[in-house]
Amino acid sequence: MRPPVTDSLPAAKPEMKPWIAAIHAYVPGKSKATDGRPLAKLSANENPLGTSVAALAARSAAVMPSLYPDPDSAALRAALGALHGIDPARIVCGTGSGELLTIAASAFAGPGDDVLYVRYGFSLYEIAARRCGATPVEVADADYGTDVDALLGAVTGRTRLVFLANPNNPTGSFLSRTELARLHAGLPGDVLLVVDQAYAEYVAPEDDDGGLELAAAHANVLVMRTFSKAYGLAGERVGWATGAPELIEVLNRIRGPFNVSNAAQAVCTAAVSDQGFVTHSREHNRVERARFVEAIEALGNHGLRALPSEANFVLVLFEGGLTAEAALHGLAEAGYAVRHLPGQGLPHGLRITIGTREQMDDVAATLRSLTEGGR
Ligand SMILES: Cc1ncc(COP(=O)(O)O)c(C=O)c1O
Repeated sequence: MRPPVTDSLPAAKPEMKPWIAAIHAYVPGKSKATDGRPLAKLSANENPLGTSVAALAARSAAVMPSLYPDPDSAALRAALGALHGIDPARIVCGTGSGELLTIAASAFAGPGDDVLYVRYGFSLYEIAARRCGATPVEVADADYGTDVDALLGAVTGRTRLVFLANPNNPTGSFLSRTELARLHAGLPGDVLLVVDQAYAEYVAPEDDDGGLELAAAHANVLVMRTFSKAYGLAGERVGWATGAPELIEVLNRIRGPFNVSNAAQAVCTAAVSDQGFVTHSREHNRVERARFVEAIEALGNHGLRALPSEANFVLVLFEGGLTAEAALHGLAEAGYAVRHLPGQGLPHGLRITIGTREQMDDVAATLRSLTEGGR
């Protein structure tokens, strides 16, 4: 029989695994100033145009919340399959693409294995790697972009998975179709390439990176997408992945059993049928991003630099007298929350989501005023 616990024994307590202890929780974008004032949120890459009216209408018509949702999100997968020309058997839906990229790492990597991604890659990749006990390996960038040769050069016998966000968050950098194909061709067949296309709907169709074609043709490629960005449905928490049926079957084993709610399935299925909203969002973003980049370039003599972006945000570097930290505070004073990422090695940058025209004009004017010593 187990001896009774007495006061003289040191109190036993559950110990987390060492690889979990190494994780720093994901830091979400802020929407309030330090004094609690609400700010316009240009810190989480949400869609400033809201969401499709058709999607909102579907929300109220969704099945009763007292019932479990369809565990397979069949109608949504059918809609996505029809839109993209993919067999729905090759699609799995998740609670955001965050769930899918996390379980992809758990399924294919573990203690003793390496998970690769580029420096300044999406911050969830490190968490996903550590969560399953694998070693996150950050590979050198090329002027804030993905360096295919450096990634391929970092592959060893321990490498099990490569994460690539295309476009990348937080830099906005984009790998062309040719470069993505070269990256895939250089990887051993037993290394899984996860092409995270969270911002793909913002890329001009003629610049498509060919990720879906790679996932259709090869057994070691997963493409992940989300409803959180151009579809304007971040609050519904839905993402999807496509790849070989064998890969999808593995993800299906370990995803949450009822991972997409009734309302989310109904809303996202309706959103897929309203591609006009997605096109309008892409067009708004293209125009406003170009205007904002132009405004930043005009401040180049003050050391401001906008990195080229294919996404719905721009990483602005502060390499002159005005620091990113001072700009962060100045923008908060003016009513805007943007993203400062010192923890990701970017103390000199601010990631600014493309908002409405009025917001972007105001943000640019605030930055101009700050460089001139005002505000
Ligand atoms: C590159 C990238 N991938 C994945 C995600 C996760 O998105 P969600 O879980 O909302 O689908 C994000 C969110 O910011 C992202 O920027």
